Amino acid sequence: MIGRVNHIAIAVPDLTAAAASYRDTLGAAVSEPQALPEHGVMVVFVELPNTKVELLEPLGEASPIAAFLEKNPSGGMHHICYEVDDILVARDRLAASGARVLGNGEPKIGAHGKPVLFLHPKDFFGTLIELEQA
Ligand code: CO
Repeated sequence: MIGRVNHIAIAVPDLTAAAASYRDTLGAAVSEPQALPEHGVMVVFVELPNTKVELLEPLGEASPIAAFLEKNPSGGMHHICYEVDDILVARDRLAASGARVLGNGEPKIGAHGKPVLFLHPKDFFGTLIELEQA
């Protein structure tokens, strides 16, 4: 059911410093910071030959990554995003197998303009999973 890794998201306390580290120390191509207010994050996209890394910094009061950074003040891997062909088919299959879909179970439009869902990390070995319809 799941296909390519679309991106790996890393929550960071200082986006400027994290982008500089990926650019200067790891030698990666990084984007300019972009504000995604509807998702409560500032993001820098790190373009790699086979996938993307997204560096996320909280934006605004109700950022979904604020609590994660309180628990992991120096940052940490926040989620991995897998592509699926049909997000509603994927959701129904997961629900039928007992996996918990976060929120109200309806896909939202994600950072790339495509429908996404998140799955409970306790059902997948401590990793928050995002599914994105490719
Ligand atoms: Co994501």
